[in-house]
Amino acid sequence: METIAPKATGSYTDGLRSLDSEVRVDSLALEGALPEWLQGSLLRTGPALWEVGGRTMNHWFDGFAMLHRFGIADGGVSYANRFLESTAYRAAAEKDEIAYSEFATDPCRSLFQRVFSVFDPKISDNANVNLVKLGERFIAMTETPLPVQFDAETLETAGVAYEVPGLLTTAHPHTERATGGMLNYAAKVGPRNSYRFFHLGPNADEPQVVARMPVKHPSYQHSFGLTERYFVLAEYPYVVNPISIPLSGRPYIENYRWKPELGTRFWLLPRDGGEPLGPFESDPCFGFHHVNAYEEGGEVVADICVFEDAQIVEDLYLERLRAGSPVHRPDVRRFRIDPGQGIGGGTDSAGSVTWERLVDDGFDLPRINYGRCNERPYRYTWGVGVGDSGWFDGIVKADVVERTTTSWAEDGCFPGEPVFVAAPNDPAAEDDGVLLSVVLDSAKGNSFLLVLDAADLTELARAAAPHHIPFGFHGQFAPA
Ligand SMILES: [Fe+2]
Repeated sequence: METIAPKATGSYTDGLRSLDSEVRVDSLALEGALPEWLQGSLLRTGPALWEVGGRTMNHWFDGFAMLHRFGIADGGVSYANRFLESTAYRAAAEKDEIAYSEFATDPCRSLFQRVFSVFDPKISDNANVNLVKLGERFIAMTETPLPVQFDAETLETAGVAYEVPGLLTTAHPHTERATGGMLNYAAKVGPRNSYRFFHLGPNADEPQVVARMPVKHPSYQHSFGLTERYFVLAEYPYVVNPISIPLSGRPYIENYRWKPELGTRFWLLPRDGGEPLGPFESDPCFGFHHVNAYEEGGEVVADICVFEDAQIVEDLYLERLRAGSPVHRPDVRRFRIDPGQGIGGGTDSAGSVTWERLVDDGFDLPRINYGRCNERPYRYTWGVGVGDSGWFDGIVKADVVERTTTSWAEDGCFPGEPVFVAAPNDPAAEDDGVLLSVVLDSAKGNSFLLVLDAADLTELARAAAPHHIPFGFHGQFAPA
């Protein structure tokens, strides 16, 4: 493992440099004032180390996971960061080489080793995408079936939390309102492939599959929508023949193929395990993040951050990003599906989907007032937009009823996902609360925690971290 000394360049590419220092700071320099009610921790995971043994990983998504915690208590902010001690990370640290396959990086292997890896695939547990609190457990996740439990106070890694019923999963589970349990996606691959959705109770160790449907060539899934009655699966035409992965000699994601002729096919899988409804066919597109979904007037509405195609996956290769190559701008679309057209399932009953652009200013990494609005009609969402810098450089608030947006931006600053934390007011408006976002200040070469009023995006406070925090993906606020 190597040290890449952070150096301010005034460019967003600073956020794609590795960080290998682990620190604990009791009190960060704070500008502004935090609301008194805001007490707890913003916990985040994200890639932080892309260089191992003289090699650089290929893709932003490949880096070894680091956990970050901004602790907010009594008007002050503490900070700690620590590598997730995954098996993949430990193996790399011990051998000084990449030992497990990541999203777009494979270990160097001979043909013999590649054949052998079919029987011993060495699946990575590098959980660098998202984390959740399930019951009293904190679990970091990626898209492999090995979610990793950790201690939210010490950031110490505990080990694999549970076994996912499939080879591929998402790091974007939903919370089941009735139980506080978790609902997530899994793709089972083998002689027969299937899409599955599973439930894991707050204190349970064994996931239960609650819905499934067969598929020949699974589509890449990063998240899914949930309504009161359905799992919403957007089957983008970015598909894989799983059996080809181990022998292809290509890293995982490079086995996927863009086949626009397939279109995007929506499926509604009843949460009660009933027959899947669909396919509902729409134009080809590709997306990572569902914003929200709900049922209204007999229709299923699914709002998703999408791109015209899967080029965004290519955009995010590290070499391109570090060279300052701009990324495609996301679009936020509202899809409307009439489930009545698809009852009975199967390809003969294909219904159609209509879609429209939800707002003019696209964004990604969307958040909503989740506890109040998930599965329900809603009005506000917050995300990060791609501006003139070619990178995510502004926080966007969208009013999806009025179809308007407002934004926060500052020269040379590059914000991450804005996490909404609801204020404990009663009654409270849907946007009554704060946004927490980790922002890279490229002029100073370090990052800071930004606290905005979620209603009007005015700044309430910022707390400077002792170093740059490599761009990550997701995190959660855990109230004290
Ligand atoms: Fe994500």
